[in-house]
Amino acid sequence: MPKKNTIEIIYQPILPELSRVQRNIRKQVKTENKVVNKIVDYIFQARGKLLRPALAILSGRAAATRSDESVDEALVQLATAIELIHNASLVHDDILDDAAFRRDIPTLNKTYNNHVAVLAGDALFSLAFHLLTRHLAPEIIEPVTRITTGMCQGEIIHELYPGDNLDFETYLTIVRLKTAGLMAVSTQAGARVCGGTAVSVQALEEFGMNVGIAYQLVDDYVDDETSEIEGFSLDYAFKAADRARSSLKAIGGSVFKSKLLEMVDLVVAMSVQKDMSATVKLP
Ligand code: FPP
Ligand code: MG
Repeated sequence: MPKKNTIEIIYQPILPELSRVQRNIRKQVKTENKVVNKIVDYIFQARGKLLRPALAILSGRAAATRSDESVDEALVQLATAIELIHNASLVHDDILDDAAFRRDIPTLNKTYNNHVAVLAGDALFSLAFHLLTRHLAPEIIEPVTRITTGMCQGEIIHELYPGDNLDFETYLTIVRLKTAGLMAVSTQAGARVCGGTAVSVQALEEFGMNVGIAYQLVDDYVDDETSEIEGFSLDYAFKAADRARSSLKAIGGSVFKSKLLEMVDLVVAMSVQKDMSATVKLP
């Protein structure tokens, strides 16, 4: 069992950047309207694990050929936008699932209603693209838009799939689209922002995709959502974790690469334990 502070040990070299991401989220979601502020405060009252920002920042540092203030700022803005997209998708996912709780707190859809939750998710989503267009180059923004379109497609395929009996191939398509794609774009865009070579960008994209697949398969298995999936293989999750580790052979050694390797085990372990208490205390 990972110790409670393992996540903080892994994040240790990037805590200042994660802190900037956290502060940036608070700053960006503030509006001049008290009612709207109450709703966004409600969404962010539970601290998440900041997995995607951490993946983006660690990947950027692991692949970096450039480092200066403007690169640091772009990386923080990218990580902020990705975390906003993730939170927007969870707000919408809770409406689709008619979920009552998220991170042990009543969901927005139950506390307010579905209409408010749709609009709040949309607002976070468009704020993310506002930040991307202000701070990042078109070649970074383009894959993010492709992945977010894919997240919606993944959910649509799932919604419209006849009956509960998904076959494993269709299930994997949904997993790649709805979960793994956002992790893959976090790692590849982080690497690109920091001037990563084509080889390291590709290696980190593969890393993120496979970490995302491993995470979602284990998560669904622990949630007992896989018994109806024809041909489901938990072993596929462990093979994806192995592929993630192997893909990093293409990039040079650094403390950031070691932390990414440690993250593979952490992400799988957290998924197994449903460790919702693993939040990050930031400086
Ligand atoms: C949680 O999965 C949900 C997702 C990973 C993605 C949801 C995506 C959408 C609702 C499409 C809309 C997207 C945007 C960008 C606004 P889960 O249900 O397996 O996990 P859970 O147990 O945490 O709910
Ligand atoms: Mg859900």
